Amino acid sequence: MTKAFAGKICIVTGGCSGIGLAVGEALLKRGAVVYLADLSEHNVERTREKMKAQSNARCAVVDVTRQEEIAGLIRSAAAENGRLDYLFNNAGIGATMPFERVTLATWEKVININLWGVIYGIDAAFPIMEKQGFGHIVNTSSLAGVIAPPYQAVYCASKYAVTGLGEALRYELAHKGIAVTTICPGNVATPIFGDAAPPEDAILPEDAAEIILAGVEQKKGIVIFPRNMDTFVRRGQMHPEEIEQWMFQEAEIRRKAYADHGNYY
Ligand SMILES: NC(=O)c1ccc[n+]([C@@H]2O[C@H](COP(=O)([O-])OP(=O)(O)OC[C@H]3O[C@@H](n4cnc5c(N)ncnc54)[C@H](O)[C@@H]3O)[C@@H](O)[C@H]2O)c1
Repeated sequence: MTKAFAGKICIVTGGCSGIGLAVGEALLKRGAVVYLADLSEHNVERTREKMKAQSNARCAVVDVTRQEEIAGLIRSAAAENGRLDYLFNNAGIGATMPFERVTLATWEKVININLWGVIYGIDAAFPIMEKQGFGHIVNTSSLAGVIAPPYQAVYCASKYAVTGLGEALRYELAHKGIAVTTICPGNVATPIFGDAAPPEDAILPEDAAEIILAGVEQKKGIVIFPRNMDTFVRRGQMHPEEIEQWMFQEAEIRRKAYADHGNYY
């Protein structure tokens, strides 16, 4: 097993269920110190019980839509350990419904958790990572953050935003030593499907966690799975490495423009 995560300080939001819990467990197996933060007290208690023999596991009730709660956790984890290596902004909810059923309350709830939760996490982690000169932000978007299935307009809006945010930041923050990875899973068999059975093609959260950590370790920009979706989504686009090169160059040009005369345009 890789030693890349041994001793690393990691925070995983939505860390007491599904993909977040599986990522947390895989990080613990690799020797990381892992803060598992989740809104659901029930999920936190169940996870705390499950992890009681794991001295590197810390469980906390945190609502990512409350800026002071998620920022408080991030700052105290960094202060306790002298650094923060990884922030996994993973907490999220699904929203699949005909558009006529979508209310403004639905929009607010989904955007608050899926997008503002990520923004608050980045806002608190960035100054810490910038000061220390390293760090890795990992945002869970979705396949619906790169392709847009019908009946998922609200979810897609939230997840496309997460993908765009992560991609832009990745190019901009690379020179500061901060990596950004966007995770775009297809179906994973987790409680996100509620009472409905997960789709037949859904993979296990443990398998998803292995794919995610392999991509994070390689500092990939976007991790799309399953593999056939990765091929499909990227088909017809520029070669990803050409885009990467272009964007890294563009980041350099813009960074210099801001440093030299305070603006780009
Ligand atoms: N399961 C899939 O098929 C799938 C596919 C693509 C993307 N995703 C994304 O993966 C992420 C994890 O989803 P999952 O499938 O593991 O779902 P899940 O429901 O098993 O886990 C999500 C966890 O997030 C927590 N959470 C919800 N709101 C929160 C809040 N305000 N603050 C803190 N925690 C909160 C929940 O309590 C839950 O424990 C989500 O962002 C989801 O959109 C999942």
